[in-house]
Amino acid sequence: MHPLLAARWSPYAYDPTRDLQPHQLRALLEAAVWAPSKANSQPWRFLVGRRGDATFKAIFDALAPENQVWAGNAAALVVGVAQTVSEAGHPNSHAAYDLGQAMAQLTVQATAEGLFVHQMARFDPDRVRAAFNIPAGFDPYAVAAIGYLGHPAELPDDLRKWEQAPRVRRPLRETAFAGVWGHPAVD
Ligand SMILES: Cc1cc2nc3c(=O)[nH]c(=O)nc-3n(C[C@H](O)[C@H](O)[C@H](O)COP(=O)(O)O)c2cc1C
Repeated sequence: MHPLLAARWSPYAYDPTRDLQPHQLRALLEAAVWAPSKANSQPWRFLVGRRGDATFKAIFDALAPENQVWAGNAAALVVGVAQTVSEAGHPNSHAAYDLGQAMAQLTVQATAEGLFVHQMARFDPDRVRAAFNIPAGFDPYAVAAIGYLGHPAELPDDLRKWEQAPRVRRPLRETAFAGVWGHPAVD
């Protein structure tokens, strides 16, 4: 696996003293928008808050309490929004899929910049919709906390335990199949 992908993980401990440079933020967003998408529909939009600004606060306020415990130290909070229905009223079956690819590219770019990304599904999309006046047809899917790594010692006990727990994945033989469903594609 490429070292950039191997180095990625989702931390809880962010360094509250370090900010993103404007060129870094631009690089992350450029990486996202150069993702492939169905018919080049580019159904992604992003709400970008930097720690200390009003956008960050409005996104933070919509997070579930268990995410608020740690995400406030991130340098940026970015909401990934998918256009699931076009202006003409046509549903885009792959909008969320494409938004996910864009966020994955953002994450790889972030890793290359020495940054970390921790995505969150636990937030109130209606609160985000209201705070930013998001039009019909656009749906907030996830919030990404982005920043430099902090010190696990500053986390509450339960989060520190999670932070330092071994990361696990289902084995490839149970994930990738060939011939018939369930038959491993690789040894
Ligand atoms: C769409 C999505 C939603 C997630 N939601 C949350 C969340 O609300 N809170 C949280 O602490 N982590 C959340 N995570 C992080 C996952 O728990 C984490 O990616 C997973 O455990 C794998 O760990 P790793 O990213 O370190 O490899 C989310 C990740 C994704 C991609």
